[in-house]
Amino acid sequence: MRVSIVVAVSENGVIGAKGGLPWDLPDDQKFFKTLTLGGCIIMGRGTHDSVGRLLPKRTTLIISRNPEFSVEGAQVFSAFGDAVAWARSQHLAEVFAVGGASVYAAALPLADRLYLTRVHAEVEGETRMPGPPDPADAGFQLVSEERRNPDERHALAFTFQTWERSSA
Ligand SMILES: NC(=O)c1ccc[n+]([C@@H]2O[C@H](COP(=O)([O-])OP(=O)(O)OC[C@H]3O[C@@H](n4cnc5c(N)ncnc54)[C@H](OP(=O)(O)O)[C@@H]3O)[C@@H](O)[C@H]2O)c1
Repeated sequence: MRVSIVVAVSENGVIGAKGGLPWDLPDDQKFFKTLTLGGCIIMGRGTHDSVGRLLPKRTTLIISRNPEFSVEGAQVFSAFGDAVAWARSQHLAEVFAVGGASVYAAALPLADRLYLTRVHAEVEGETRMPGPPDPADAGFQLVSEERRNPDERHALAFTFQTWERSSA
């Protein structure tokens, strides 16, 4: 099973501001939806709170240390590794770690693939992507990228990148 990280990061490493996303990029949201639809996503309790609902047509695994936390329609695990082990037991082809910061930190050592949206701006925000700014320094290699320029729906330019790390 492939463990994949899906994240959008500003040039100064920010992924979240005031508990939400620091930008409005509909085509990045569309990319996320297309990628994860029908699949299994792992998120922290904070990201679940920030989304405010379960994303439809996905299996959702939520990480929380609170043994009393539960969400109807999702499974809650007390550690990221337990959620990955459950996903493996289901013989899934891929599982997506979708944030926030502490979930990415737990996922980075295990991840085989990184779907990275580089948002070409410096933004303010309290939540930052852990790990080295350049995925190459974490052993990933860039396998594809596609740049999008600003348009009437997107105030910021961004680039979709896919990075892979061989498990050898
Ligand atoms: N740019 C992006 O691609 C992206 C993606 C996702 C989220 N975000 C942004 O990131 C922010 C939310 O992220 P966050 O970092 O604040 O929160 P988070 O990582 O989603 O959630 C943190 C909570 O998850 C639980 N948790 C996380 N890691 C754990 C572990 N290893 N073991 C056990 N429990 C664990 C804990 O819950 P308990 O407190 O219940 O124990 C912890 O308080 C928001 O602003 C959101 O919009 C951005």
